[in-house]
Amino acid sequence: MTGSPLPQRVPAAGLPARVRIHEVGPRDGLQNEKATVPTDVKASFVHRLAAAGLTTVEATSFVHPKWVPQLADAEDLFPRLAGLPGDVRLPVLVPNIRGLERATALGARRVAVFASATETFARRNLNRTVDESLAMFAPVVARAKEEGLHVRGYLSMCFGDPWEGQVPLAQVVRVARALADMGCDELSLGDTIGTATPGHVAALLAALAADGLGAATRPTISVHFHDTYGQALANTLAALQHGVTTVDASAGGLGGCPFAKSATGNLATEDLVWMLQGLGVETGVDLDRLVATSVWMADRLGRPSPSRTVTALSHKE
Ligand code: HMG
Ligand code: MG
Repeated sequence: MTGSPLPQRVPAAGLPARVRIHEVGPRDGLQNEKATVPTDVKASFVHRLAAAGLTTVEATSFVHPKWVPQLADAEDLFPRLAGLPGDVRLPVLVPNIRGLERATALGARRVAVFASATETFARRNLNRTVDESLAMFAPVVARAKEEGLHVRGYLSMCFGDPWEGQVPLAQVVRVARALADMGCDELSLGDTIGTATPGHVAALLAALAADGLGAATRPTISVHFHDTYGQALANTLAALQHGVTTVDASAGGLGGCPFAKSATGNLATEDLVWMLQGLGVETGVDLDRLVATSVWMADRLGRPSPSRTVTALSHKE
């Protein structure tokens, strides 16, 4: 055999022809690192991800630098991403008007607000109740839309919360509806601590659809799985079978959330690409280049990638 092994391509019924991968490694992946990652390493990471064919790379967050010190260099990083091909989208997180102004001053055209389905995480992540945080986001979304920006609305703790336990579907639908009514173009359903299983994913998508929030109509619905219990790929497949076509993933499986200690890495982008290649679903990603990027990043971070696919493809004979 020459080159890297590839999965045998055997399409399955009921799946989209193409999936857009929303790469979150530079943001969700690096926000949780203890060691400071130098800004030039972050910039190089984003450039390498784009060169591997990822066309949506969540670059950083314009949050309070004391809350997320790892991303305190957003002002230094963002200008270093100029010069990427024009089709590469660089969304950034903004919690409030201050964050939006910091981001747009640098030319950001895609922003994300980030709500919680549960009260405890809203408090810990945003220092506010769920409704107070929605009140904080409403003027951000309104102003971003006036300025012609694309707005993603994250929704965390959709499938379980480390403090509150089970999260009723209706509670998730209520906050999703509020984000949709605000004018978000896209919702991303976050399994922040990785407790979702495929039937739960299908049930939430059905509950959202019953409220008029179908996966393919505006706001479109994306999924954001953390892989704590090894369920992220199964959950992704369930979502694809229910009309979702944008999937969040993190190169090398980096990730976590500093405000939810039980959150581990996101679904690894390489594991996702491997499954989608086998299913014959296009992503535009060059898997070898992506693995090389994650190995390079793992060297910078001083520990191996938790991704099975990175491990397998970087140890080939
Ligand atoms: P707060 O302390 O309530 O802020 O924090 P405040 O509004 O009371 O303002 C206090 C001070 O902070 C003021 O300064 C503001 O100007 C300043 P002062 O007047 O005292 O000198 N400030 C800012 N400075 C810079 N940039 C800003 C900013 N905002 C206020 N944007 C706040 C509220 C929302 C700011 C804070 O809680 C925060 O920054 N939280 C960020 C948390 C975070 O980034 N979490 C990780 C991302 S979410 C996630 O990972 C989940 C996800 O992956 C999906 C999933 O997995 O579920 C998306
Ligand atoms: Mg996350």
